[in-house]
Amino acid sequence: MSGSGTNLQVLIDSPDIRPHIRLVVSDRPGAVALSRAEKAGIPTAQVRWEQHGARDEFSAAVAEVIESHGAEGVVLAGFMRILSAGFVDRFPGRILNIHPSLLPAFPGANAVESALDHGVKVTGVTVHFVDEKVDHGPIIAQEPVEVFEGDTVDSLHARIQRVEHVLYPRIVRSLVQDRLAIEHGLASA
Ligand code: GAR
Repeated sequence: MSGSGTNLQVLIDSPDIRPHIRLVVSDRPGAVALSRAEKAGIPTAQVRWEQHGARDEFSAAVAEVIESHGAEGVVLAGFMRILSAGFVDRFPGRILNIHPSLLPAFPGANAVESALDHGVKVTGVTVHFVDEKVDHGPIIAQEPVEVFEGDTVDSLHARIQRVEHVLYPRIVRSLVQDRLAIEHGLASA
């Protein structure tokens, strides 16, 4: 996590998912996600980019703290750092990300703004397996979200997040039940 952790909160609030959450990791000390985890009694860790400085070292430190807590999979939600190929190899087929667009359209940190700037009429939410590229990897599930006239980044993102909060628990549930796979580079659920 890097941010507010509303997706984390819905996972914490899902009784069948909560027991599987071993640890919440953030790269930002002040991340609201950390206080959500603490309130729920879930161990937390901070791995700061500045302490490592390079992607490989940072990613290795994140992987080590995850493994030391016995976690076997990784669920990214608003994590604004790119992880190394070595990190991806340590959790094969077990790293998920959620992104506020219909990938491959609008990867990156400003997906909602870019969709508005392009005047698209429909955007949405993507859940995908993570590879070493930004907002990239086999797509597991997508849901469309209509863009309304007069939408702002905030109003559209709020509608997108309501969809995220239903979709992500569904897919994370499949992950913890071992029902997700990658075959020939494509995701199956
Ligand atoms: C979510 O909307 C997620 O899709 C987006 O960050 C937000 C995090 O919200 N992720 C990306 O843009 C990834 N490129 P949250 O901290 O409230 O869960």
